[in-house]
Amino acid sequence: MEADSVRSVRLQNGSDGAVSKEELDRHGIIGLVWSDFLIQGFPAYGFNSREDLHREFTTVTTQISKPRSKQMKIGVSGASGKMGQAIVRELNSRSEDNEIIAISRTPDRSTSGVETRYGDYDQPNSLVQAYAGVDRLVLIPTSDMRPGKRSDQTVTAITAAVSAGVNHVVIVSGAGARNVVEPDVGAAYWASENYLIRNAPRWTILRMNYYAESLAQEAIMAAQHGALTGFAENRVAFVARDDIAAAAAGILLGEGHAGATYTATGTKAYTGAERAALIAGITGQSLGFLVVLPEAFRLGLEQAGIPIDFVNVLTSIQHHFAAGGMDIVTGDVERLSGRPPMALRDALVAALR
Ligand SMILES: NC(=O)c1ccc[n+]([C@@H]2O[C@H](COP(=O)([O-])OP(=O)(O)OC[C@H]3O[C@@H](n4cnc5c(N)ncnc54)[C@H](OP(=O)(O)O)[C@@H]3O)[C@@H](O)[C@H]2O)c1
Repeated sequence: MEADSVRSVRLQNGSDGAVSKEELDRHGIIGLVWSDFLIQGFPAYGFNSREDLHREFTTVTTQISKPRSKQMKIGVSGASGKMGQAIVRELNSRSEDNEIIAISRTPDRSTSGVETRYGDYDQPNSLVQAYAGVDRLVLIPTSDMRPGKRSDQTVTAITAAVSAGVNHVVIVSGAGARNVVEPDVGAAYWASENYLIRNAPRWTILRMNYYAESLAQEAIMAAQHGALTGFAENRVAFVARDDIAAAAAGILLGEGHAGATYTATGTKAYTGAERAALIAGITGQSLGFLVVLPEAFRLGLEQAGIPIDFVNVLTSIQHHFAAGGMDIVTGDVERLSGRPPMALRDALVAALR
């Protein structure tokens, strides 16, 4: 900002005089306008000069920011899984000042360089101990698809967090969380979200759209018969797992997220035909998109020996795709993590490598 334009703003505010470069750097233009506002409008506060104000603001911001960024204990529950490890990595890379605690049933498998604790979602006492002293905690659900299991586990973990005195609980939930019944995949997410809202002192919900990595897995399977499948042409804004992790780290390290629900998505929703073409461009093998009946889809999974609970969940996800439930682009990944989400192509290339 040029000194002349600053001076013109100050003149509009009834002030005059030269503006030094040093002063500009220190307050910025908005600070200068508000400095004059405070000095002239609120004499009772005793700010006689900008130097007074500068000293006061420096002290106040130091007092506010230091305790917030230092010595917070941040727990990651479910830390040994792929998402958990990614969140721990993000927390480590974004903040050296906080203590990260990786909690899982297999502490040895968690990311090294952080404190690890044993915690089993099926053993409430282990969780109360694991969450002791933690200020902020993120709960990553398991992939246990037995009906009711995931919501029971998350409810157990939220109860344990509250009794351990955790101040702020963040849950990783899913796009499609809504008031439906099992085996719809949205049912467990909905039950967990509602329990969290009713019970945690401070909470944040991070819903994830469909993983780009899961699309890559589907592409590997689809290569055998040359087509991705769906119950109708649909659009999905796939998101890389690392981007969900970065968004979670942004919530845990940041301020102003209590009471918020976010949805981590990619930057663009792809139709079935578009994603098939994108994958074909990467692999060099032809791939299309085929609309199939839900019954045929289920039968194919069952014949491939996939356990019935997974068949049910995968079918419910396809119904959700077809209904447009993942055709959402939010911008939340960038808002929370400070960086744009990976392009789907890059995420697929990394996952198919
Ligand atoms: N949105 C999507 O497209 C999408 C795609 C794939 C997965 N997901 C979901 O995303 C979440 C994270 O997935 P991920 O990729 O990190 O899965 P993952 O790598 O399979 O990790 C799941 C972790 O759950 C832990 N776990 C299992 N039972 C547990 C228990 N009783 N108590 C404590 N921990 C337990 C396991 O750790 P230990 O055995 O070490 O305890 C495992 O490391 C899961 O809910 C998964 O279903 C979503």
